[in-house]
Amino acid sequence: MKFITFLFVIFFIANCSSPNLNYRTVPMAPGEKASEHVKIGKKYMITSQGRHSSQAGLKMMEMGGNAMDAFAAVSFAISVERPQSTGIGGGGFLVYWQPGMEKPLAFDFREKAPLKAHKKMFLDMSGKEIPRKSLDGIFAGGVPGLVAGVIEAHSRYGKLPLHAVIQPAIDLAEKGFEVYPGLAKALTYRQKVLARFPATKKIFFKEGKVLEEGDLLVQTDLAKTLKAIQARGKNGFYKGWVAKAIVEEEKRRGGMIRQADLDQYNVVQRKPVTGSYKGYDVYSMSPPSSGGIHVLQILNTVEPLNLSHYGIQDYRTIHYTASAMQQAFADRAKYLGDMDFVRVPLDELTSKKYAKSILAKIPKDRPLKKSEVLPGKFDGYESPETTHFTIMDSEGRVVSSTQTINGYFGSGLVIPGTGIILNNEMDDFATKVGAKNLFGAVGGEKNLVEPQKRPLSSMSPTIVLKHNKPVLALGSPSGTRILTCVAQTLLNYLEHNEPLLNAVSSVRYHQQWYPDELRIGAFGLKKETEDKLREMGYKINHKNLGCRVQAIAREGDNLIGVSDPRGQGMAAGE
Ligand code: GLY
Repeated sequence: MKFITFLFVIFFIANCSSPNLNYRTVPMAPGEKASEHVKIGKKYMITSQGRHSSQAGLKMMEMGGNAMDAFAAVSFAISVERPQSTGIGGGGFLVYWQPGMEKPLAFDFREKAPLKAHKKMFLDMSGKEIPRKSLDGIFAGGVPGLVAGVIEAHSRYGKLPLHAVIQPAIDLAEKGFEVYPGLAKALTYRQKVLARFPATKKIFFKEGKVLEEGDLLVQTDLAKTLKAIQARGKNGFYKGWVAKAIVEEEKRRGGMIRQADLDQYNVVQRKPVTGSYKGYDVYSMSPPSSGGIHVLQILNTVEPLNLSHYGIQDYRTIHYTASAMQQAFADRAKYLGDMDFVRVPLDELTSKKYAKSILAKIPKDRPLKKSEVLPGKFDGYESPETTHFTIMDSEGRVVSSTQTINGYFGSGLVIPGTGIILNNEMDDFATKVGAKNLFGAVGGEKNLVEPQKRPLSSMSPTIVLKHNKPVLALGSPSGTRILTCVAQTLLNYLEHNEPLLNAVSSVRYHQQWYPDELRIGAFGLKKETEDKLREMGYKINHKNLGCRVQAIAREGDNLIGVSDPRGQGMAAGE
């Protein structure tokens, strides 16, 4: 039944040129073709936020590679195609499963604070935050982890040589591609900061202005760096001329990253957080991401309510789910940080018992004010960027990976001669207790800067299995909204039994404790639902959530790929 409805929706989307406010209408991004965002295959499927990147993954499959080869190819290609979102100057997470594994594995290649970093580095002498120091320029960057992470995972589970998986990214950087609407928008948004750095200007400006939609973006220096990685593996980045260029620029601008930071960067294999929802096993990213814990916490909280009786658009569904989100963010502020440095009550936060106590405190008829929501008590105790892609192959391997340089174009600074954009992931630390990050999320003691610590994330690459077989894999960009968008899409698919395209494109909402508001995407909420929520006391802010869910479901013999139609992307498969 799900499949037939899905076909109907594909027909609908393919014939729909202008979005309207009917909640079934899919909000298509400008310049995108509906037919490229949904795909049904039997053998393999890739959904990513870039047409060239999905095609790079497809090429690996056609060459006889597996999902891990496609993972490496998409990681490098998307670093070229979405310089506003991710890159080899950033980091990320991967949740991976293949038949025979007892449970999925999680790879952590998040950036780390430099050895010289300290908890007062973003404060002035009087203890006040120095505006934008954690966001723009040299101090914003953590030690990049992406190259190490991709190469480590690929060397363990890929079939094709590194040479092959990196080649599509080199070709794309050398030949270039046309600036698409989302990239043009990000360039305009960050133009003042980008203009401060000559090496950045050299790539992204033409005749004194940022590149516009339709201009060709060629990244020759980045191609050179990718070739160094192709020739020397991870040493092509963390040692040799590329490393030297990074350290020289850090020293020249008074930054903190040194060769010792690059030498000591380590990828960590972690256990994913594990939970269940009505018979499905859900695996998602563990700390230093808060994503997995809170996705499970939200699912656990609403599980007993059987929300499908109400439906996606019902005010009760939105009220209870938003209240679960609100509590999750109160807990996030108090308890979450890098578990290599601080204790995180992971088992308690993801327990059904705790979820029951949260549900018991949610009033039926009104939202809780932020002052009424306190973090739980246990014994003993974001600009919407980033990118996600999902892959499944014919042998049952599943890749779910979220990668980032944090805000649009990270720190804005390109390391001269390398084409590498330095991330601004240091902003994901709490610059001081109670300070808010780019995404307005409040930070606590456990997420203060420490040397070699990884900043807290919301990235939530997720895999769902049933009887040890893959059912669904997904993730999204967009800072703190990632975890709520992933939780909602899971509920839409697993609880409300919606076809995958509807599950991805339905109305989205987000409540993150601070500010005290229900943020609702521009499209799709029925007027009577909104009226009812306002009547209950919700302050509604219609503001795009920025999520771009990339999902693949296995239904019988079919692999269904959906790349969120709200943004650039492509579902590619066979
Ligand atoms: N930089 C966004 C995140 O890690 O959640």
